[in-house]
Amino acid sequence: MTPHDTVLIPGDGIGPEVAGAVRKVLDAADAPLTFHEHLAGVAALDAGLDVLPDATIEAIRKHGLALKGPCTTPVGEGFTSVNVQLRQKLELFAAVRPVRSLDGVKTRYDDVDLVIFRENTEGLYAGVENDIVPGVVTSMKIATDAASRRIAQRCFEYCRQRGRQKVTVFHKANIMKKSDGLFLRCVKDVHDDGFTDIAYETRIIDAGCMKLVQDPSQFDVLLMENFYGDVVSDLAAGLVGGLGVVPGANLGHDCAVFEAVHGSAPDIAGQSKANPLALLMSAVMMLNHLHETRGCAASHDAAERIKHAYNQALHDGQKTRDLGGDLNTDAFADAVIERL
Ligand code: NAI
Repeated sequence: MTPHDTVLIPGDGIGPEVAGAVRKVLDAADAPLTFHEHLAGVAALDAGLDVLPDATIEAIRKHGLALKGPCTTPVGEGFTSVNVQLRQKLELFAAVRPVRSLDGVKTRYDDVDLVIFRENTEGLYAGVENDIVPGVVTSMKIATDAASRRIAQRCFEYCRQRGRQKVTVFHKANIMKKSDGLFLRCVKDVHDDGFTDIAYETRIIDAGCMKLVQDPSQFDVLLMENFYGDVVSDLAAGLVGGLGVVPGANLGHDCAVFEAVHGSAPDIAGQSKANPLALLMSAVMMLNHLHETRGCAASHDAAERIKHAYNQALHDGQKTRDLGGDLNTDAFADAVIERL
C-alpha cells in the first residue's frame, strides 16, 4: 500500500507542540501517511518567507491533503489571517466541526452530538473593509447565491451519508435581510429541491445560542455563514470540554485541510500544556476522509485504533490540564500510544 502524501503545517504558538505529539501517535498507529512539512503564518515570516508562501499552497494543491496547526493573526493590525487566506485560495468552502461528548470528560451534558457546518469563504470574513472618512469604517458582508447553495448542498449530502436527521440554520435575517435572507432562501431551495427526507428548521442566532446552551440535544447539524460558524464553534466546544477536544475539516472540491478549531493559544505556548487531542481528532477525520474518498482501508483501520486509544486514555483518567488532568502534551500522546 502506498502512503498518502500529506502536507503538514505545524503553525504557530502551541502548533508545533501539538503537531509533534500527533505525528508521534500517527507513526505509532502505522497511519499510511508521508508528511511534507511546509510553513505558514508567523513561522513563515520568521523564516524570511511570505506569511502564506506559494510553495505551501502549491503543495496542498498537489497532494490535495493537509494537516494544519493553528496560525496566529495579529489583532486590529497587520497581515490578513493566514487561515482565511488559505480557505479562500483553495476554495475550502465547507468547515465541518463535529462536537461530541467524550467519555471521561465530565461536563454539564453527557450526550452532546452536534456537527457544525460553516460557510468558509465569504460573509464578513471576505475582509473587505474601508476607511470612509476619519473615524468611520465599513466592513462588507458578502453573500452569494453560488456559495450559499454550495455549502447547503454539501451539508445535506453529509447528513444523508451519515444518517443525520435534521439541519438547523442559524441566521439574523430579521436584521440583515438581504445577506442572511439570501443565505436562508438558498438553503431552503436546496432542501426543497432534493433533501426533503432531512428535517430543516431555522433559528434567529441569538435565541438559537440560548437554546444551544440550555439543551444541545434538540440540535443535530447546525448550518451557518462564516462569522456565526466561527463563534458558535467555540461556544459548542464549551459544551464538551473546551477547545482542546474539537476537531475540524476544511473541505473543497479538490483539497481538504484538517485542523483543530482552536487557535495558537499564546498564553500556554512553549510550556507543553496544550492538549493535542483536537488536532489528533482532526487527523482521525483526515484518515476517515482518505477511506471515503480514496478507498484506503489502512487509513480507516488506523483511524479506528487511534479513536479507541484516545477514548480509552480519557476513560482511564489520562488527561491534560485543560480537562482537569496533569499530563503534558507529549505524556498524553504517550498514553494514547500505550493503548493503540
Ligand atoms: P485560542 O483558541 O488560541 O485560545 C483560547 C483559549 O483556549 C486559551 O486560553 C487557550 O490556552 C485555550 N486553548 C486553546 N487550544 C488549547 C489546547 N489545544 N489545549 C489547551 N488549551 C487550549 O484563541 P485566541 O487566544 O483567541 O487566539 C490566539 C491566536 O490564534 C490568535 O492569533 C488567533 O487569530 C489565532 N487563531 C487561529 C486559528 C486557526 O489557525 N485556525 C483559529 C482560532 C484562532
